[in-house]
Amino acid sequence: MHFLISLWLSLWLLCLFWAKCQGQLIRVPMQYQASFMASRRQHRAGRSSLLAKYNVAGGQEAATLRNGGATETLDNRLNLEYAGPISIGSPGQPFNMLFDTGSANLWVPSAECSPKSVACHRHHRYNASASSTFVPDGRRFSIAYGTGSLSGILAQDMVTIGQLVVRNQTFAMATHEPGPTFVDTNFAGIVGLGFRPLAEQRIKPLFESMCEQQLVDECVFSFYLKRNGSERMGGELLFGGLDKTKFSGTLTYVPLTHAAYWQFPLDAIEVGGTAISHHRQAIADTGTSLLAAPPREYLIINSLLGGLPTANNEYLLNCSEIDSLPEIVFIIGGQRFGLQPRDYVMSATNDDGSRICLSAFTLMEAEFWILGDVFIGRYYTAFDAGQRRIGFAPAA
Ligand SMILES: *[C@@H]1O[C@H](CO)[C@@H](O)[C@H](O)[C@H]1NC(C)=O
Ligand SMILES: *[C@@H]1O[C@H](CO)[C@@H](O)[C@H](O)[C@H]1NC(C)=O
Ligand SMILES: *[C@@H]1O[C@H](CO)[C@@H](O)[C@H](O)[C@H]1NC(C)=O
Ligand SMILES: *[C@@H]1O[C@H](CO)[C@@H](O)[C@H](O)[C@H]1NC(C)=O
Repeated sequence: MHFLISLWLSLWLLCLFWAKCQGQLIRVPMQYQASFMASRRQHRAGRSSLLAKYNVAGGQEAATLRNGGATETLDNRLNLEYAGPISIGSPGQPFNMLFDTGSANLWVPSAECSPKSVACHRHHRYNASASSTFVPDGRRFSIAYGTGSLSGILAQDMVTIGQLVVRNQTFAMATHEPGPTFVDTNFAGIVGLGFRPLAEQRIKPLFESMCEQQLVDECVFSFYLKRNGSERMGGELLFGGLDKTKFSGTLTYVPLTHAAYWQFPLDAIEVGGTAISHHRQAIADTGTSLLAAPPREYLIINSLLGGLPTANNEYLLNCSEIDSLPEIVFIIGGQRFGLQPRDYVMSATNDDGSRICLSAFTLMEAEFWILGDVFIGRYYTAFDAGQRRIGFAPAA
């Protein structure tokens, strides 16, 4: 209820800012799970799930890494991520969801999930027989995540976000959520905001339905992620446009290279004013906490930061020298998007409770970058599906 009130307030404020207001702009307040001071184990878990998610074919080394990753528990994997509410069916059944631009399927736990699936029983479950708008589909569904695959059955129903109602949306009812991956998350399921070619079984993603059903004026959504831990209101996802109060200056847009992931060209990367790399590709992924770099850049950047490599492919930084670390700049569409040490140094607690500092630049055995929440938190991001482009501006 509390949430609904703030949502309405937000909509009212929006109406003041934008002349047109027929419900096409929908704000989803993002919750932020209280673990900014993540444990070291969570950082490791984040990395291994990253490898699993992108399932990169990097040859021998990647395979070794993936196997190495599998020995690490994936619990709390998504603790560093942002979630917000939707409801499915009539009457609406509420779910707190992770909004993930790095995948393209929508799934929620099913009321008929396996008794063995702890993750499923810890969260709200979709009960098809309690929804008058449920339409059976019956096809089996599965998607790969870290320790196993999540599987279930496809269904169709209406999905409500704010007062925006998406009809005939196909989604998965998860009956098996193996392993600890989703057990302690603050979200029940995932809304994939990638493009259809990325979707398992090529199911039409929610946002494509939203645009097709003309529920939004513009086929754009935008993310504002606060980088301040333990806040219940950790940011905002806006469907249908931009929130000009959440960024400064103008957005720099670049055309997408492919519309599957949100993939775009990265002109160059500079460390302390020196370019270390040119002409790369990057993916903007709200479902990834850190920044994943290709092997060469991963080594160069972490060495330049004076990082101490550990057996776990982490780089430890000296916490008392953080202020003297260089700015790291991503050049996108000819504009400079810098990250300061406070943006890219992650504070964590060691197994013995002491504070350690870790580099947010993690390894990706592929020749592209993944710009996760570390970047999107610093730069407001407009995901413009209509014009197949992505835009960035400094977050307010
Ligand atoms: C699902 O909803 C139906 C109808 O409201 C109810 O009879 C049934 O017990 C519910 N099933 C579960 C598993 O909650
Ligand atoms: C949803 O499906 C029903 C039945 O196939 C159809 O009549 C209706 O037009 C569809 N609605 C939308 C918005 O696609
Ligand atoms: C988070 O924000 C609150 C005020 O909104 C501030 O007091 C606190 O210092 C911030 N924490 C961090 C880690 O920036
Ligand atoms: C960290 O930096 C401080 C200040 O420069 C220095 O005194 C200390 O020895 C460094 N610690 C390590 C472990 O290198």
